[in-house]
Amino acid sequence: MYETILTRTEGPDSRRVGIITLNRVKQLNALNDQLMDELGSALKAFDADASIGCMILTGSEKAFAAGADIGAMAGYSFADAYNQDFITRNWEQIRSIRKPVIAAVSGFALGGGCELAMMCDFIIAADNAKFGQPEIKLGIIPGAGGTQRLPRAVGKAKAMDMALTGRMMDAVEAERSGLVSRVVPLDKLMDEALGAALMICGHGQTSVMAAKESVNRAFESGLSDGVMFERRLFQSLFATADQKEGMDAFLNKRKPVFVHR
Ligand code: HXC
Repeated sequence: MYETILTRTEGPDSRRVGIITLNRVKQLNALNDQLMDELGSALKAFDADASIGCMILTGSEKAFAAGADIGAMAGYSFADAYNQDFITRNWEQIRSIRKPVIAAVSGFALGGGCELAMMCDFIIAADNAKFGQPEIKLGIIPGAGGTQRLPRAVGKAKAMDMALTGRMMDAVEAERSGLVSRVVPLDKLMDEALGAALMICGHGQTSVMAAKESVNRAFESGLSDGVMFERRLFQSLFATADQKEGMDAFLNKRKPVFVHR
């Protein structure tokens, strides 16, 4: 069904993890319109599937994605890029996905690849991962949120360093800087990501989606508005069956059985 990505699911039938693997391996998963269209479709399909609780986005061992496809954009004029909203036209739809998306990154995550990883909810990195915004070396700048999300993740000093020098950050530096949540040996990457995803699938879906929405709000609003948004969502969750079940299970020393409502 797809030509540039692979999709599969893992986990128990009732709550599965949707796994999307970028699959332009020879081109180090360079991102083009077809791949981004297919990725958007796959994410939306998993998001709409009631049996899916969480998604993982991953690439190959050598590259999560080495950036936007340079061959596809090299000859573009400003009008080509602007009129077609070239390559970035459908990127922001990833932000509309309401269930969590974990990036499992091994190898290069450069340019648009780093931006794509940062659009996910959190990044688990293999110890061979390398992150960078090397666009400056091509005479351009990041175009899918790199200059906005990187400073929010790692602060101004490192973001400027990365955007202006175009250097790469290894996995250890990325974890130290707050860009990634965990670093694991390469051969443990998918186990680790799957473990995290299955843990998320085991929680009540309404509270998972509310937690994602509320954390994201921190990057969109001032503190008072964000705290009020969180409080209202928190209060709303007392209307769910899963809140009753979660608290009853704790008080009766048993495992909760969430119904995701
Ligand atoms: C198109 C790419 C590519 C890219 C690699 N390839 N990156 N093709 N676009 N972004 C291709 C190479 O041309 C080569 O094809 C094959 O993948 C293997 O790459 P090599 O360079 O031979 O591998 P290696 O020597 O190991 O070097 C790996 C690398 C290097 C360090 C990642 O490929 C590299 O610097 N790539 C470009 C990274 C980059 O500048 N990214 C930012 C792009 S701009 P052949 O046919 O020769 O085997 C961007 C803007 C985003 O992302 C804007 C918003 C979306």
